[in-house]
Amino acid sequence: MKRIITYGTFDMLHYGHINLLKRAKKMGDYLIVALSTDEFNWNHKNKKTYFSYEKRKELLESIRYVDLVIPENGWGQKSQDINMYKADTFVMGDDWKGQFDYLCDETEADVVYLDRTPEISTTQIKKDLNASSLVTTHESVIK
Ligand code: CTP
Repeated sequence: MKRIITYGTFDMLHYGHINLLKRAKKMGDYLIVALSTDEFNWNHKNKKTYFSYEKRKELLESIRYVDLVIPENGWGQKSQDINMYKADTFVMGDDWKGQFDYLCDETEADVVYLDRTPEISTTQIKKDLNASSLVTTHESVIK
């Protein structure tokens, strides 16, 4: 059984997230998502999540590609998680390219960065909705 692990906030789940999870799952048999807690987001990632950790966890658990959701409480837990969950591959979107290469030295896992899906992010959705109450669809924003 090949195990994949990935990390993130996954707030206001969108198709960029689903695309990442789908491709991550295709790389193996079992996908673990380490989901940033509200405290970790607020204190270290400068993010105030729209949905609470519990809600974000429930949403992720309902995605067919996701087998297990665990909490991400800090930057330094990745090697330990990889060893504990016997992950073969660590996957992130390429906005993180190069930043986790050190895991190849600290663990047995491969480190892979997948292309981000263009033109969508939680931050962008929040900005677009804030910008105008007349904007009702993502398509009308990216055109
Ligand atoms: N991701 C992706 N394509 C996107 C958005 C996110 O592949 N368009 C990936 C990220 O690279 C990461 C995972 O999804 O591996 C979770 O990203 P997260 O930061 O939670 O999502 P964003 O939408 O980028 O959120 P934010 O704008 O708050 O950074």
